[in-house]
Amino acid sequence: MALWVLFHLLLFLVLKPTDANLEGDALFALRREVHDPNNILQSWDPTLVDPCTWFHVTCDSQNRVTRLDLGNAKLSGKLVPDLGKLERLEYLELYMNNLVGPIPAELGNLKSLVSLDLYHNNLTGSIPPSLSNLSNLRFLRLNRNRLTGRIPRELTKLGNLKILCVQQ
Ligand SMILES: *[C@@H]1O[C@H](CO)[C@@H](O)[C@H](O)[C@H]1NC(C)=O
Ligand SMILES: *[C@@H]1O[C@H](CO)[C@@H](O)[C@H](O)[C@H]1NC(C)=O
Repeated sequence: MALWVLFHLLLFLVLKPTDANLEGDALFALRREVHDPNNILQSWDPTLVDPCTWFHVTCDSQNRVTRLDLGNAKLSGKLVPDLGKLERLEYLELYMNNLVGPIPAELGNLKSLVSLDLYHNNLTGSIPPSLSNLSNLRFLRLNRNRLTGRIPRELTKLGNLKILCVQQ
């Protein structure tokens, strides 16, 4: 009898759908990549079922991430392509840090994005043309970085864009 119960318990554990924390994993990839001298990402525990209780992260009623508020947070290091997995993200606020390296083209997958604030960092490379796919984007502030190249012509397609700051 005990064995029978054990068997079913094991079966349950094997067949139970895993609580995939895809958005938490995407955010945690950022935590792994950046240097965070003030430990403001300390609450980012990837073993939780979702990232909605993490500081600086906001979710909607379906526990999907809608905001990442890490402006002026003394972060250094690189942005990660994983951020492009946050399908419901509306506000990506990473201004006034010391982020380096390129703007990942994957940010062009953030279909819900309203505001992309990366100003005042040390980002290099060019502005990815994929950002022209952000049809809900209203605020794009990339000024005060070390970006090179032209502003992609495609960005002018963005009908909702109200503010575009890209000067160095
Ligand atoms: C960018 O890098 C330069 C040189 O490493 C540094 O002096 C400057 O403070 C950095 N800018 C920001 C916004 O962190
Ligand atoms: C925009 O999205 C479409 C469809 O997902 C894709 O085929 C296209 O390559 C993207 N444009 C850019 C410039 O990345």
